[in-house]
Order: sequence, then C-alpha cells, then structure tokens
Amino acid sequence: MSTNHTSSDRDVTVCEVGLRDGLQMFRDLFPTAEKLAWIRAEAAAGVPEIEVTSFVPPKLVPQFIDAQEVMEGATVIAGLTVVGLAPNLKGAERAVELGAHKLNYVMSVSRTHNLKNVRREREESMADVRRIVELLRTLPEDRRPLLVGGLSSALGCGYEGRIPVDDIRRWAAAYAEAGVDEVMIADTVGYADPALVREAFKAVMQEVGPMPVSAHFHDTRGLGLANVLAALDCGVRRFDASLAGLGGCQFVPRATGNIVMEDLCFMLDAMGMRTGVDLEALLAVREIVARNLPGIPLYGALARAGLPHHYPQAQATAG
Ligand code: COA
Ligand code: ZN
Repeated sequence: MSTNHTSSDRDVTVCEVGLRDGLQMFRDLFPTAEKLAWIRAEAAAGVPEIEVTSFVPPKLVPQFIDAQEVMEGATVIAGLTVVGLAPNLKGAERAVELGAHKLNYVMSVSRTHNLKNVRREREESMADVRRIVELLRTLPEDRRPLLVGGLSSALGCGYEGRIPVDDIRRWAAAYAEAGVDEVMIADTVGYADPALVREAFKAVMQEVGPMPVSAHFHDTRGLGLANVLAALDCGVRRFDASLAGLGGCQFVPRATGNIVMEDLCFMLDAMGMRTGVDLEALLAVREIVARNLPGIPLYGALARAGLPHHYPQAQATAG
C-alpha cells in the first residue's frame, strides 16, 4: 500500500475482543494452544490490539482459567498490544503481574447491570478504579499498562432500557477525573442507533477531550456498522470487534455478538481508512474458530460474499 497520504485522521485502531467477549459465555475451555494460535494468526494478519483474556474469578467464568498461559504466549508476540479485562483491583493486579499492555476496566452506566455484573454500586466501581490508578502510578513507565475506563450498557440496558446521555457523560467525566487513559463506550446489548451514538459520543468527547474515546458495539439488532459510521463521523478512531461476530454476555439476557471484525475492516478499508489489516489473512483465521466451536454460527457478510472483484487493485492504489 502506498503512503501518499499521512493524515492520521484516516488511521483506525481495531481491537479483537472475541477471545474475551466471544468466549466468556462458553463453559467448555477453548483449548489454550488454540487460543494462542488464534491470537498469533490475527496479529500476523495485522490486527494491532487483542483482548486476550479476562482477569475474573475462574469459578465465575471458567473460560479464563488459563489467563496466565495465554498472557505468557501473547506478550511475546512482537508489535501486539495485549489487552486484558479487569473488573476490580484484584484483576488489575493480576494483569500487571502478567505484563498486560492495556487494561480494560468495566463498570456499567446502568446501576442494575453494574450490580448484576460486578456486584457493586457504580460509586464503588469508581472508587476501585482510583485504587487501580494509584497502583499503576507506582510502576515504572515502561511497565505501566494503559488504563481504559469502560462504560458498559451505556447506550441501553436490558434491565433499565434507555440510559440518559447525561449519565454517560457524567460517568465518563468521573473516569477522566480518576485518571484513566481512554474511555470506552459500550453498547453491550445492541440497543444503540446512529442518532444516539452521535449524541452520546459528542457529549462524552466534549467532556473528556482530548482523551481518546473508543467504541464497543454489538450487532444484536443489525445496526453495528451504522453505529461505527456515526462514531467515525464524531472522530472516534478506535473500535472493538470480534472475529466472526462471536460474543455476548452471560449477565445480559439475549445479548449477542460483537460487530464482525472482518466486515468492520472491510468497511474501513473500502472507505479509504487505514487499519493495517490484511483482509484475506484475517478471513483465514476463521478456520481456527470454526474447528474449535463446531455448531456455533460464525457471522460475517465478507466471509459469505468474498472480496469485491476489483478489490486487490483498489488495495494497491489506496493508501
Ligand atoms: N480474579 C480472581 N479472583 C478474584 C478476583 C479476580 N479479579 N476478584 C475477586 N476474586 C476472588 C476473591 O479473592 C475471593 O476469593 P476467596 O473466596 O477465595 O476469598 C472471591 O473471588 C470473591 O471475591 P469478592 O471481592 O467478594 O468478589 P465478588 O464475589 O463480589 O465478585 C467480581 C466481584 C467483580 C470479581 C465479579 O462479580 C466478576 O468477576 N464480575 C465480572 C463478570 C464478567 O466477567 N462479566 C462480563 C464482562 S463485562
Ligand atoms: Zn461486549
């Protein structure tokens, strides 16, 4: 790809979350060696960030019993930003110990979902993130992971329905004040629409700018990529997605998969944005998921239809 244009506004960072968001609801362990094969293959396809595991009690989410081995295998992959989810201080301590580059901390804007998911009031979640910031500040800079303040169920909640935009803005401001490095807005149950995305992201970005704000959309009702476009228009340049659209949340009734990584990268590429991802190499990674999750539907329009005829040419002249 030529690099005639250098405008960073066209650079988009995608983060694979299928190994965490996608796998967390499966009780049977996706074999550790196969998780690592998936991580290596997707990193080799050019995906720059992968959320490889979750630092939660294995009793609660057995899929992540192998967090240590996965971290050991992932953190040696050159150039990959290794991300881990942590819902509390204890999770953050484990993530730091195992060398995570980035920590996704989660709380829900919806009080009910926060109580169900992490068994705490939102104020307690916010007090914990302050303790995590303190912990991280004791580390030398080269060993200090970036901290992302995740706002789950921000754009709608399976229990509370519509969430006021002012609540999202307020909790994002609390995160910024606590000292996180990035705020992530998550549509955990796929209730968002592009108009709401515009309103919510504008409000949050005005509040916390210039801090990066990222988006985590689920495609539950088919609006995932439309929501990405709305967020792009607001200036968002970081998106979570999962290979083959795996995903869900055991604490959210009827939650389904994330937006499909392959389709997201295709859309961005077709629009002339730069992800650094090789689409054909990315499509090939689906085989690893397919052979380990027989009978589980793999989503994705690009995988179904293939790249457009003109595409290799378009790729060669884009950039
Ligand atoms: N990793 C491993 N063990 C942990 C832990 C962590 N992050 N946090 C707590 N524990 C252990 C404690 O040490 C304690 O162990 P013990 O019984 O041997 O003493 C036990 O788990 C209970 O600890 P407690 O602090 O009372 O936690 P809790 O039971 O209130 O659970 C959470 C709180 C946040 C750990 C739990 O609700 C959780 O993991 N939620 C996230 C669920 C999730 O993954 N959702 C989807 C992603 S958004
Ligand atoms: Zn999710």
